[in-house]
Amino acid sequence: MLVNGKEMRSLWYEDDCLKLIDQRKLPAKFEIFVAKNEEDVAYAIKEMVVRGAPAIGCAAAYGIAMAKNKEKAAELISNTRPTAHDLFHAIDYMLKKIEQGEDAIKAADAYVETIIKKCKKIGEYGEKLIPKNARILTHCNAGALATVDHGTALSPIRMAKDKNIFVWVDETRPRLQGLLTAWELEQEGIEYAIIADNAAGYFIRKGEVDLIIVGADRIAKNYDVANKIGTYEKAVLAKENEIPFYVAAPLSTFDNNIKNGDEIEIEERSEKEVMNIYTWKPKKARNPAFDITPAKYITGIITEEGIIKLADN
Ligand code: MRU
Repeated sequence: MLVNGKEMRSLWYEDDCLKLIDQRKLPAKFEIFVAKNEEDVAYAIKEMVVRGAPAIGCAAAYGIAMAKNKEKAAELISNTRPTAHDLFHAIDYMLKKIEQGEDAIKAADAYVETIIKKCKKIGEYGEKLIPKNARILTHCNAGALATVDHGTALSPIRMAKDKNIFVWVDETRPRLQGLLTAWELEQEGIEYAIIADNAAGYFIRKGEVDLIIVGADRIAKNYDVANKIGTYEKAVLAKENEIPFYVAAPLSTFDNNIKNGDEIEIEERSEKEVMNIYTWKPKKARNPAFDITPAKYITGIITEEGIIKLADN
């Protein structure tokens, strides 16, 4: 990804530490968070220094690699965030490689390189779905920040840069990951406008959105998708208005042990995240971090191995 014109990744291993662009501070401040051990990595995942399914998997891989007691580290890191399948996929991968006698840091490096390659491939397949002059809507941040490089939903968009495209960026309350997407698009010189989450239907109905691409946190065996809260309503709007709705995700996000979306555990975060902008404090708030989009609303899932065709819109 480009940051002030220079290629960089959202996390990397250096001087025996995991270094992460602090996504809690972006875009207002560009700061690097240094994780020296598995406890720092667990903190970084839980507090969303690093976020986005593939990126938290990559951070977890280094967390396991840095730990003396790998099993304990696996347990600690597993208990940070429940929904993103990549986290558990990465932990299983690391424990297996270590058991096979591989050097742990090299195994984590290899895991990250594979994720980056998968995201690039997603971009190559997904770019073909984007017509010239397309106006694309995306939700949350499924960019390089969320995947170490390229992105999932943003990877095809990056590759379609020369097609005179425009991106509608959902703000994504309550944590405003849309700002991270806006920042990434600005770094790449791609035209966009950020909109309040409840404005998406207005622009879709006016015919100003040609297609929607989002990422995923976990995909069930029947292709129901868990992704950032607010994704489901965008998918229903897409079907109603007959525009394509694509999900972009590497195969590490697919959980074959889960039959359908109802079985996916949805993280509920602190009500403070909802209320922190209020000047008067209501008694109660609810803050589910993800929702389920049933497969029937999804036109296709863009993976590193090609596109899984689902619905007809
Ligand atoms: O709570 P977050 O910010 O970690 O949620 C991220 C998302 O919902 C992304 O859309 C998803 O992880 C895909 S990222 C490539």
